[in-house]
Amino acid sequence: MSDPGPFVSTRGLGRVFDVSKPWLNRMIEREEKVFLTAAENVTFDIPRGETFALVGESGSGKSTIAKMIVGLLRPSSGTVTVDGVDLFAQGDLAGQTALRRRIQMIFQDPYASLNPRWRVGDIIAEPVRAFGLEADARAIKRRVGELLEQVGLSALDGIKYPHEFSGGQRQRICIARALASKPEFIVCDEPTSALDVSVQSQVLNLMRDLQRDLGLTYLMISHDLSVVRYMADHIGVLYLGRLVETAPRAALFDAPRHPYTRMLLDAAPRLDAFGRTAETVVGEIPDPIDRPSGCHFHPRCTHNDGTRCVGEAPERLDLGRGRAVACHGVEEGRIGEGRP
Ligand SMILES: Nc1ncnc2c1ncn2[C@@H]1O[C@H](COP(=O)(O)OP(=O)(O)OP(=O)(O)O)[C@@H](O)[C@H]1O
Ligand code: SF4
Ligand SMILES: [Mg+2]
Repeated sequence: MSDPGPFVSTRGLGRVFDVSKPWLNRMIEREEKVFLTAAENVTFDIPRGETFALVGESGSGKSTIAKMIVGLLRPSSGTVTVDGVDLFAQGDLAGQTALRRRIQMIFQDPYASLNPRWRVGDIIAEPVRAFGLEADARAIKRRVGELLEQVGLSALDGIKYPHEFSGGQRQRICIARALASKPEFIVCDEPTSALDVSVQSQVLNLMRDLQRDLGLTYLMISHDLSVVRYMADHIGVLYLGRLVETAPRAALFDAPRHPYTRMLLDAAPRLDAFGRTAETVVGEIPDPIDRPSGCHFHPRCTHNDGTRCVGEAPERLDLGRGRAVACHGVEEGRIGEGRP
């Protein structure tokens, strides 16, 4: 059988925001328009049934990329393809009902994403009705009960309101609502970062069980490396809108190549179990409106050569076995597989 190819692909995905002051203010103050590049040339693939995680500091463009991948935000450049269909080829995704049903998103704050005035049963029934997935009211009610039980709640919970549940239970309700349209691909933007640590692992375990049982494909977004390590098959590291390294989970954690990936791992004490000497995080994240020239990481990088690193944006270099790195030092052989 021929290789079906990746289930989800992005190619050169980018998004620029116009963050200028209003026209009149600009005229009076004689200011130019100001643009912010939140994502630039982002390319990765997710095979069906696998989890790809995007990790990066606050403001690195994780949510912007997530919104483009579910069709909530139009890219300024590049493409998103899901099961061979280009999401934005025929206008916005809103018009593509079949594809919309197959892609769902779970957000960080489960309370903000649930309508407080609706009963939980109605919240979960809404996508079932919208996509016409059940024939009548009785079948919808049965399906809602099934979904609640599938996420570890009771079918009787459908008559309650969101405020009657704990944070972890509310995230389970969001998962049930996401599952209601029978999706194949779920984008999870920091799904557990608002929850207590003890509850986090329960929700992550549920998500893993659902993935196995339903064959789901996940894009998982997190700034928490322990979450990423637990959930992901493949990881992409973002810095100021650019992917600096993508690698299978073990390769990334055992032998990170990009200096920024190394710094991130060194800054995560819980993960420092490999005999590496922990380094402190060097410097602040630069202003995203005025990103450093060349390699955006150069002001913080101990391998900065002062010339090419400052003047030229590094291209994505395919290192084989699912790993790609964008770094002049790696390309030139100055940064090897071993630690400095
Ligand atoms: N609608 C918008 N208009 C203008 N700028 C935006 C908009 N959305 C995001 N940005 C900017 O784009 C950059 C990336 O934002 P994004 O929300 O994607 O980051 P993130 O990695 O999800 O961060 P966090 O971890 O804090 O959620 C930030 O500098 C942000 O201020
Ligand atoms: S390109 Fe240069 S500055 Fe950027 S991470 Fe690599 S060595 Fe450091
Ligand atoms: Mg975000």
